[in-house]
Formats: sequence, structure tokens, C-alpha cells
Amino acid sequence: MMRRCVTSLIGVALLAAVATPGRADPATGEQVFTGNKCNDCHYTQGPATEKTIADQLAKKGPELWYAGSKFQKAWLEGWLQNPEPIRPLKYNSLSDDNPGDHPKLSGADAGAVTEFLMSLTSDKVEAGVIKPKKNPKGRLIFVKKMPCSGCHQFPTKKKFKGGRSAPSLVGAGKRLNPDWIYAYLKETKTFKPVRMMPVFAGVLSDKDMKAVSAYVAYFK
Ligand code: HEC
Ligand code: HEC
Repeated sequence: MMRRCVTSLIGVALLAAVATPGRADPATGEQVFTGNKCNDCHYTQGPATEKTIADQLAKKGPELWYAGSKFQKAWLEGWLQNPEPIRPLKYNSLSDDNPGDHPKLSGADAGAVTEFLMSLTSDKVEAGVIKPKKNPKGRLIFVKKMPCSGCHQFPTKKKFKGGRSAPSLVGAGKRLNPDWIYAYLKETKTFKPVRMMPVFAGVLSDKDMKAVSAYVAYFK
């Protein structure tokens, strides 16, 4: 009985492998990642290693050790093949434009790397808490009560507005995991122990952090 069960399980696994050619596992993706020297600029092992501003400035790209909690899978796979600038300015610069020269991956490599990056998660992100929603309270916080829009671009009816010093939040609804946005505001030390963005935990109530996260998660 036991034996039959195991055999049929193996059968199912084989079938799955045959049915989805080119779908790699995280380990293959990690090989592609290192093979392409992605780790020259990105670190993939948590917890965060930056302790001082000098540590942050020494980084050549954003940390990816919680990529699986931060990004939406479909967005990630697409972006790796067509990496449009996210930060209006060059990484770690407050004056130069983003050169838009991020390395590109082919479809198969992007698929494999996506499997690897999506396997890197943080247990500080609780699933199913934030539902994307265009809520007036979130809007009021984002554009009026707090300086969010002074640093971040966000979509408007016509195109977009906002500051250029931070990652653009245009398209955040497709790019970011809504629950990560909330965790990012709340868990100030976990994701960015050294950061340029002010700390809002303690300034905004928990309810307000949830409202503004739902609002950002709705950005088209
Ligand atoms: C020369 C340094 C460098 C190399 C090499 C590099 N990256 Fe990047 N990466 C960056 C920078 C800088 C950004 C920020 C780009 C932006 O904001 O538009 C970035 C952004 C990213 C992001 C989005 C992260 C975020 O938080 O916005 C992912 C995912 C990523 N890179 C994956 C990769 C992969 C996979 C490779 C290997 C194929 C790679 N990178 C190679 C510098 C690099
Ligand atoms: C003084 C400028 C500034 C203000 C004000 C600010 N941010 Fe940020 N924000 C940043 C910067 C810079 C980053 C990139 C990470 C870092 O270095 O802190 C960031 C990162 C983020 C991210 C993650 C984006 C990504 O792709 O990695 C989110 C979400 C975010 N901010 C939301 C907000 C919200 C919501 C507010 C208002 C409550 C806000 N920010 C106010 C500068 C700012």
C-alpha cells in the first residue's frame, strides 16, 4: 500500500516535470543568478547586513533576500526580461538620472531566477492582511498628511506626480505584495535598518498604516 502510494507520487512529480518544460526549481535559478554575476550587486541572504550609512552607500543594488515577500511573481518574471527603471534616480544618488542599464535575462533564465527569488521570504510579512483599496483615508495620508508624495511618484488621472528621490510607486499594485508594504512601514528595522525614508511606525497608527498600504497597493 505504502509502496504504491510512493510510486504514484513519483509518477505525479514526473508528469508535472514533463508538463511544464523550462519551469526551473529555485536551485537552478540560483545557479543562473550566480552565473550572471547578479550577486556582484545584490545580496540574497538575510537578515539585513547594513549597519551604517557607509554600508548602504557601498551597495550597488537593492538587497533581494526578501524578494519573495516583496514582489509579485508575474511582475518579477516580466521585469527581469525588460527591466524598466524603478527609481527615477541612479541607485544611491540624489542627482544623477537612472541610467536604465540594468542587465536583462532571456525568458527561460528569467523564469528560473524568478523561482529562486520567490523562494526568498521573510516571516515578518503576514499574508492576507492588506487588500488593495482606493480609500480616502489612505489618499489623505499619502498626499496630504504625510510627505510620501514628496519623495515618491504615484499615478494620477492624467499621468503621474510626485518626488523623484525614492522608488516610483507607479504600478505598485502590480509590482509589490500588499502585505509587504504594510510590513515595510511597520517593521522599520527588518527590511531597511539603514534608510533614507523616515520611520512612520509610531507616527501613524496601525490603522493608518494599513489604510495607506491598501492605497499604495492599489496604484496602477
Ligand atoms: C551592476 C550592478 C547590478 C547587477 C550586476 C545586477 N543588478 Fe539588479 N539592480 C541593480 C540596481 C542599481 C537596481 C535598481 C534599479 C532601478 O531602480 O531601476 C536593481 C534592481 C533589481 C531588482 C528590483 C529590486 C528592487 O527592490 O527594486 C531585481 C529583482 C534585480 N535587480 C535582479 C537582478 C538580477 C536577477 C541580476 C542578474 C541577472 C541583476 N539584478 C544584476 C544593480 C544590479
Ligand atoms: C524623505 C523621502 C521619503 C518619504 C517622505 C517617504 N518615503 Fe517611502 N521611500 C523613500 C526611499 C528613499 C525609499 C527606498 C528605501 C530607502 O532607502 O529607505 C522608500 C521606499 C518605500 C517603499 C518601498 C518601495 C520599493 O520598491 O522598495 C514604499 C512602499 C514606501 N517607501 C512607501 C512610503 C509611504 C506610504 C510614505 C508615507 C507614509 C513614504 N514612503 C514616505 C523615501 C521616502
